[in-house]
Amino acid sequence: MKKIKLKDKEFGVSIPSDVIQKAIINVAAQINSDYKDVETPLFISILNGSFMFSSDLLKHINFNCEITFLKLSSYQGTSSTGTVKELIGINEKITGREVIILEDIVDTGITLEQILHELNKQNPKNIKVTTFLFKPEAYTKNIKIDYVGIEIPNDFIVGYGLDYDGIGRNLPDIYTLI
Ligand code: IMP
Ligand code: MG
Repeated sequence: MKKIKLKDKEFGVSIPSDVIQKAIINVAAQINSDYKDVETPLFISILNGSFMFSSDLLKHINFNCEITFLKLSSYQGTSSTGTVKELIGINEKITGREVIILEDIVDTGITLEQILHELNKQNPKNIKVTTFLFKPEAYTKNIKIDYVGIEIPNDFIVGYGLDYDGIGRNLPDIYTLI
């Protein structure tokens, strides 16, 4: 197993990049099919973690769309702090729009709930949620997640946009803490 050390912790590869890319093609196919007759949907990518997933996914989207970015943070180190802070809001008007949220990972769902709460204030026509990774054992909410790339166990991971204390986002594979 390929191993890496980030700061004080060791990680081993758990999802190689070819598996990641296949999962993305699968998610894109579902979205393409559901949105083929929908007027210019707006993707909202949640920074920082979703930058890599959003970039790879959008290359497989085959309808006219827009993308914008929203920045939040809820993690410090390897456990959720349970508080979500909005750092950068969106400028686009989403009232009456078809919105598709792009998340890197849904863990407890606290971040997702906060995002939906904020976005719903602007009365979009519809909001669907896409997450590349989902930890079902950690999920504490009832919010429907419309598109999931890969379900993973409740372990701390890095790579493919996700970080440990700010590092590891550049890795093309996903690694789990060992
Ligand atoms: P939640 O609010 O608990 O659902 O956490 C969501 C956010 O926490 C994600 O958007 C990530 O930025 C971060 N996060 C959750 N799990 C992990 C992980 O295993 N590694 C790195 N970041 C994570
Ligand atoms: Mg995130």
